[in-house]
Formats: sequence, structure tokens, C-alpha cells
Amino acid sequence: MGTSDTVGKQAEIFNYGVVRQFTIMTIVWGVVGMAVGVWIAAQLIWPQLNFDIPWLSYGRLRPLHTNAVIFAFGGSALFATAYYVVQRTCQARLYSDKLAAFTFWGWQTVIVAAVITLPLGYTSTKEYAELEWPIDILLTFVWVAFAIVFFGTIVKRRVKHIYVANWFYGSYILTIAVLHIFNNLELPVSMWKSYSAYGGVQDAMVQWWYGHNAVGFFLTTSFLGMMYYFVPKQAERPIYSYRLSIVHFWALAFTYMWAGPHHLLYTSLPDWTQSLGMALSLILLAPSWGGMINGIMTMSGAWHKLRTDPILKFLVVALSFYGMSTFEGSMMSIRTVNALSHYTDWTIGHVHSGALGWVAMITFGSLYYMIPRLYGRTAMASTKLIELHFWLATLGVVMYISAMWIAGVMQGLMWRATGVDGTLTYSFVEAVKATYPFYVIRMLGGLCFLSGVFVMAWNTWITIKGQVKVNPIVPLFSPDARDPALLGPASATA
Ligand code: HEM
Ligand code: HEM
Repeated sequence: MGTSDTVGKQAEIFNYGVVRQFTIMTIVWGVVGMAVGVWIAAQLIWPQLNFDIPWLSYGRLRPLHTNAVIFAFGGSALFATAYYVVQRTCQARLYSDKLAAFTFWGWQTVIVAAVITLPLGYTSTKEYAELEWPIDILLTFVWVAFAIVFFGTIVKRRVKHIYVANWFYGSYILTIAVLHIFNNLELPVSMWKSYSAYGGVQDAMVQWWYGHNAVGFFLTTSFLGMMYYFVPKQAERPIYSYRLSIVHFWALAFTYMWAGPHHLLYTSLPDWTQSLGMALSLILLAPSWGGMINGIMTMSGAWHKLRTDPILKFLVVALSFYGMSTFEGSMMSIRTVNALSHYTDWTIGHVHSGALGWVAMITFGSLYYMIPRLYGRTAMASTKLIELHFWLATLGVVMYISAMWIAGVMQGLMWRATGVDGTLTYSFVEAVKATYPFYVIRMLGGLCFLSGVFVMAWNTWITIKGQVKVNPIVPLFSPDARDPALLGPASATA
């Protein structure tokens, strides 16, 4: 059977339309969100780039960046892959096409509302939950619809086994619902202003319970779902250990919930809560590395493919960054280390080693796998362009994070340096001045990373427009490329 016939058949079985929509928007929002990232990086070098217009000031564009990259870029990628993976591994069409379409249009409306209200200065002031109450309510409806579509598809599955990637996606959907609702309990006083239901230290605690689990479930658990499907598929190997995937899933879900206080070390939060947060953050390293090891070991017997397959390169480098950033995070949770790193650019380096190295890289790899299949092409139009994207992204992230690590440690040391008489050795502005060269390197790294996304957009465009060169290293329907779910747990652990 020809490829286009096969895709035609699959189109009847599966709803690929909504997956295609979310996939394209992932690339669009990736460009927008990262362009704003480069812009604010440039503002830290040349403050006049706010053109004296309040809407373009750093304080307003920064939350625009974080919302655009996390929720618009990352969120769209998660909708796309969750819908793809759940259909493939359950061998069933999405539970409801109408609800799925609602999630697409609803999510895009939330994003557009964010793009308008954040620069206008409407904010609830809670980091990563800045959107005001009317948008929060719309988001809640979209999320409930997402849960119905996802779990409804699981219920109507035609395969007995629920493949582990779905466990990760499912826990992400449930947890984000709980976090969103409780952190956004607020009293509206006008259409665009509300006040948190919590006060003082409780407000801080709830906010960082949310903030840390937003990292844990929005930026980690969900992307592990992506990893558990696309790594075995692209490597054409079963997962290394199915048992490990279940053990680290439960350990990860349990441990993440308690680690939030590491964002509030040395604050008025009770001391025992801070110690508990620190201890659980150290324990968190074990399940995090369990996931990384399971992904990396899946490559056993397929390492030679890395020489020729840039998609696999994206996936493996993403896993390495996942391992690195979680190790770093656990270390930064130790009080004495945090005393140095907190408030410095080290935190920003940590964030982007996770965000660019793990989240964005695993997304690029997964999208490159999906796009030809979604559009009935044999492969991406150009493997060379994927390779170019890979090197631009790798160079970009390395420049970004090493600049921030050096700047961060330098700032921490300069701020705490004192003379024999106890006075500060450096004034604050001296530390700012010393940071400038590193801001320039960060901005250049960001530009490099962003230009990679443009390359991806171009490659996607020429793939969709049909200029297909047959690419022998990424076979579309090879007999070995069965869904890992169909391999079942017994053979997967073998
Ligand atoms: C071209 C790529 C990017 C550039 C140049 C960039 C740049 C920046 C800059 C300049 C900041 C503000 C740092 C500060 O206030 O000192 C920032 C913050 C942040 N960015 Fe990015 N970014 C990029 C991509 C991403 C991506 C893809 C993600 C997530 C998936 C992300 C997530 C974040 C987060 C969460 C923060 C806030 C960190 C904090 O408050 O500690 N960024 N970014
Ligand atoms: C074992 C896993 C991890 C642990 C224990 C951990 C721990 C930490 C610590 C201690 C901080 C600094 C808090 C502060 O001083 O204010 C931090 C900040 C942060 N981490 Fe991680 N981290 C982990 C993994 C990750 C990953 C994989 C990502 C991204 C995908 C990430 C994203 C962030 C963000 C966005 C912040 C900045 C929050 C803010 O202040 O706005 N972390 N993390």
C-alpha cells in the first residue's frame, strides 16, 4: 500500500487535524516567545530598547516571554503530542472531535488574551500565573475539555494495556488542573483586577507550591510522556525498562509535590518547611535520573544511528540536559548553595538549561518525527536543515547557560565579599557592570537558538508544500516501527 493511501486510511481512524493545528502553532509561538526572549535579553544590555513606551518595558515583556514560551510554545507542543500519542497507543480516535477543536481555539484565545493584557500591565503578579481572572476561567474550561478528550480516548481504547506515556500525560493534565484552581483562588474587584485569596507567607507558599509543580508537571512530567513515545519510536527500540518507568513515575509524582519551599529558602516560611523542601528536592534527583537513564538506555543497540539521524540527536541531547538540570536543581536546593545562587543569573542559567536544553530540544525532536507523518510525507524535506537546526540549538544553549553560570557565581561572590572591617568590597553597580559581557554572550546564544527555530519553520514549510526528497534514515512505516505500546510490558522489559 502506498504511503498516501496509508495516511488516508489513518486519517479516517485518527483525528490528525487538531494535531496538525497544534503542531503549526507550536512553531509559530516558539518564534514569537523566543524572539521576545532575545528582545528582553537585549534590553538588559541596551535599556533604551523599551523606547520609553510602558507596554514595551522590561517588567511587562518578561512575563510575556515566560507565558509565550511555557504555555503557548510548550503548551501547544503538549496538546499536539498528547493527542497524537494517545490516539496511536490506544489505537482509537479522539473521544470528541468537537471538544478537541474547542481546546485548540480556546487555548489560542487564552494566548492571544495574554499577548494583549500582559503588555497593557494587567497582571495578578503571581509568577507563571499572571493572567487575570476572566482568562483564568476560560483556561479552566479549556483544561476540563482537554481532560475529557484525553481520558475519554483512554476509556475507548482498543488496546488493553495503557502505555506508560499516557500515564505521564494523564498526571500532567490532572495536576495542572489542581494547581491552577488553588493558586488562582482570588477576589475580583473589577474586570481586570483581582486579589489573591491568600495572604502573607501562605500566599508565598501556595504560589511556590504552584510554581515548582508547574516546572514539575508542565515542563517535566508531560515532556517525559513525549520522551517515552518518541525516543523508542525514533530509535526503533523498546524502552529499556518498563518497570523502571512505572517506579520513577510514582516516585516523581510523589516527590515533586513537596519540593516547592526550595524557592523560599531564608524567608519567613517556617524553618522546618524549608528543610523538608530541601530534603525532598535532594531525593527528587533519584526519580529524575531514573527517567533520564531509562531514556538514554533505550538507545542501547541504536547508538550508531546518532551518526546519521539528527532527530535522534535532538532527543538524546534533550535527555542529557534533563539529567544535568535536575542535578543542578537538587544542588541549588541545598541551603548553603542557594545562599550563593539565589537572586543571581545562576538561576536563569538553570532555568534555560532545563527550558532550552530539555523542553525545547525534546519538542523539536518529537515534532520532526510527527510532521512528515501528519502530512503524509515520507520524511522532512531536508535532513541537512534538521542537522543545521540541531547545531544552532546546541551552540545557542551552551552559550546561554555557560554565560549565565559564570555571571551568576561571579555576582554571588561579589555581593558577599567583605573587607576586614566588614564593609562590602563591591558596590552593587560594580557587579552589574561586570555582568555586561555575559549578557552579550547570552543574547548571541539566544539569537543562535532562535535562528534554529526559523530553520525549522522553513523546513516544515517546504515539507508541507510537498517538495519531498526521500530520506532513507527516517523510514515512515517500517515493519519494526510499531507503536511501543503494542510491544507490551513483558517484551519491553526484556
Ligand atoms: C531564544 C531563546 C530564549 C532567550 C533569549 C530567553 C531569554 C530570557 C531572558 C532574558 C529572561 C529574563 C532573565 C532575567 O530576568 O534576568 C528569561 C526568563 C525566563 N525564560 Fe527565557 N529565553 C529563551 C527561551 C526560553 C524558553 C524556550 C523557555 C521555556 C520553555 C524559557 C523560559 C523562561 C523562564 C521560565 C524565565 C523566568 C526565569 C526566572 O524567573 O527565574 N525561555 N528568558
Ligand atoms: C530535580 C529537579 C529540580 C530541582 C530540585 C530544581 C530546583 C530548583 C531550585 C533550587 C531553584 C532556585 C530557586 C531560587 O533560588 O529561587 C530552581 C529554579 C527554577 N527551576 Fe529548577 N529544579 C529542577 C529541575 C528543573 C527543570 C527540569 C526545569 C525546567 C524545565 C526547572 C525550571 C526552573 C525554573 C523556571 C526556576 C525559576 C523559578 C523562578 O524563580 O521563577 N527546574 N529550581
